[in-house]
Amino acid sequence: MKSVAIKGVKEFEIKEIDEPIIDHKHVIIDVLKAGICGSDIHNYESGNPVGLVMGHEFCGIVSDPGDRADLAIGDKVTALPISPCGECDACRSGNHQYCASTWTHAVGLALDNPGAFTRRIAVRSDMVVKVDAQADPKAIAMVEPTAVGLHAIHLADIKIGDKVLVVGGGIIGLVSAMLAKKEGASSVVVSETNPNRGKKAVDLGVADAWLDAREEDFLAKAQTISGNGFDVVIECCGNAPAVSSAIMAAKAGGKVILVGVATAPISIPTVVAVMREIELKGAIAYTVDEFKTCAELIANGRLDVLKFVDREIGLDDVQAAFDNLYSGNSTAVKIIVDPNK
Ligand SMILES: NC(=O)c1ccc[n+]([C@@H]2O[C@H](COP(=O)([O-])OP(=O)(O)OC[C@H]3O[C@@H](n4cnc5c(N)ncnc54)[C@H](O)[C@@H]3O)[C@@H](O)[C@H]2O)c1
Ligand SMILES: [Zn+2]
Ligand SMILES: [Zn+2]
Repeated sequence: MKSVAIKGVKEFEIKEIDEPIIDHKHVIIDVLKAGICGSDIHNYESGNPVGLVMGHEFCGIVSDPGDRADLAIGDKVTALPISPCGECDACRSGNHQYCASTWTHAVGLALDNPGAFTRRIAVRSDMVVKVDAQADPKAIAMVEPTAVGLHAIHLADIKIGDKVLVVGGGIIGLVSAMLAKKEGASSVVVSETNPNRGKKAVDLGVADAWLDAREEDFLAKAQTISGNGFDVVIECCGNAPAVSSAIMAAKAGGKVILVGVATAPISIPTVVAVMREIELKGAIAYTVDEFKTCAELIANGRLDVLKFVDREIGLDDVQAAFDNLYSGNSTAVKIIVDPNK
C-alpha cells in the first residue's frame, strides 16, 4: 500500500508498506480521513522516528471486525490510538492515560503500528468506537483532538463566570476555547504568535478576543482584559515563552493546565507560580469516556468541529501541508488527509 513515512528532518517519503494482517485481535479499518496533529509536527521537526507512518486521528470503515461481535463489515468507526495494558491500577481505575504502556504501540505514534496516512490500518479491537453511519468522516477524524481539549477542560474545572486564557490557537487551543465557553466561562481569550490563527479563533466564534503574544505589552494587555489575571489558563503550545506567559497571565490563586508538549526541558518562571500560589496541572490525552462523549457529540452534530477543517489533501500533498503548518504564519489549522485521493 502507498503510505507517507518520515524520512528525515522535515522530510517525508512516499513508501510502499504491507497491508495489515488479519489476526482477530485487531479491527482492520479502511481509512476515509485522517487529521494532521500538532504532535505530528514535533516528529516532522525532529525527523524521528525514521519510517514512522503517522495519522492517529482518523475515521474509517470496518473491513474486518476481528473479535468485536458488535461490529460488522462496513461500519463507520474511529478509535483511541493508544495501547494501555488494561491490567494495571491506572487502567483498572479508568485512567489508562497514566498506564506505562499507553504510548508503546500507539497507532501512528509507534513504529510497529502504522497510522492512517495510508489506505488500511489495524487497530486494537478494544479501542475501536463505532459511530453513526451518517456522520461526516472529516468530523469524526476530529474526535481525537477534541477529546484532548475535553480532558483539559475537565481538569480545569471551570466555574461559571471564569475568565479563561488559551495560549496557542492550534486545533487543541481552538477546541479547548470552544469547550471552555460551553463550561460557562464568561470570556475566553486566545493568545497567538501567528496573527492568522489569532484572528481565526475570533472569526470562528470560539474566542471573544485574541492577544498577540509577540507584542511587548502583551502581559499588560492580558492584565487589562482579564481584570487582574485569568482564573484559568489552558496552555496549548509547549514552548518556553508560551508556558511562561501562561503562568504570568494567571491570577493569584489561579490555575494553569499544561497541554502543550515540550520535547525537551524548558526554562519557566516557577517563582511566579510560587509567589502567586498558581496551580500547575498537566493534561495528557483523555479517558475512554471522554473520547466516547466526543464521538457522540460530534456524530450527532451537538459539537461543530467541521468549522476547524481548512482543507483536504491526498498523500502526495502531505509534505507540503506539513511545511505550511510549520511555517508559523499558516492560515490553516486543521488539514485532513484522504489516503484514497
Ligand atoms: N497533552 C496532550 O495530550 C496533547 C495532545 C495533543 C497535542 N498536544 C500538544 O499540544 C500542543 C498544541 O497542539 P496543536 O495541534 O494545537 O499544535 P499547533 O502547533 O497547531 O498549535 C500551537 C500554536 O501555538 C502558537 N504559538 C507558538 N508560540 C506561542 C506563544 N509564545 N504564545 C501563544 N501562541 C504561541 C503557534 O503559532 C501555533 O498556532 C502541541 O505541543 C501538541 O504536541 C498535547
Ligand atoms: Zn492528535
Ligand atoms: Zn495499564
